Amino acid sequence: MTAPLVSTLEHPLIARSLAILRDAATDSATFRAHLRLIARLMTVAVTQSVPTRVIKVNTPLEETDGCELPHPIVVAPILRAGLGMAEGVLEMIPDAQVAHLGLYRDEKTLEPKVYYQNFPSDFTDSEILLIDPMLATGGSSIAAASLLKAKGAKSIRFLNLVSCPPGIEAFHKAHPDIPIITAAIDPGLNEQAYIVPGLGDAGDRYFGTV
Ligand code: PRP
Ligand code: URA
Repeated sequence: MTAPLVSTLEHPLIARSLAILRDAATDSATFRAHLRLIARLMTVAVTQSVPTRVIKVNTPLEETDGCELPHPIVVAPILRAGLGMAEGVLEMIPDAQVAHLGLYRDEKTLEPKVYYQNFPSDFTDSEILLIDPMLATGGSSIAAASLLKAKGAKSIRFLNLVSCPPGIEAFHKAHPDIPIITAAIDPGLNEQAYIVPGLGDAGDRYFGTV
């Protein structure tokens, strides 16, 4: 059976944190705390299907079977807002490598502009978690996934917080091999291509630059 292209995570703790993030009255400190918290909760689901290998472990009493992850995990946040979620993911996978992808959306054209890339030297064998809380038009995440693939990435999962049908459609048209794990599929976009109801500008709210 093939994995679904979009999984929406439904859990009371995720739903509660998402409501706090959506609330325009939430301050930056609380926004940061809940974005990290929701990322920790979602990490369990997004890594559910990463390959594992059986190893032998010696307990103080006897040998038993244990588990290890044979492929390195690479956390690939799209700057800036992805950094906030990446903090939570790294709390769950402290030995993960980080691939930074600096992109911003041009406010007029909505085209993604790449301004920074810093990747591990070789991640062809890695399990990559592409991270961006917002999937609006899909321009940023499509470009980010293409950059990762151009450097040899073969196995990518997209960890997202709020998506919408046009973004999902565009992303899967460009990258049908990458599953999206999200907490919400909102109805659509407004005239400025902001997700509605959404949560506003995730980067500005996380970094207090509103
Ligand atoms: C936001 C968000 C996504 C992108 C989503 O970034 O964090 O990366 O927009 O929109 P798209 O799907 O239409 O591309 P933004 O450009 O605001 O940069 P910032 O995180 O640095 O504020
Ligand atoms: N970027 C955001 O931060 N929020 C949106 O709703 C759309 C793009």
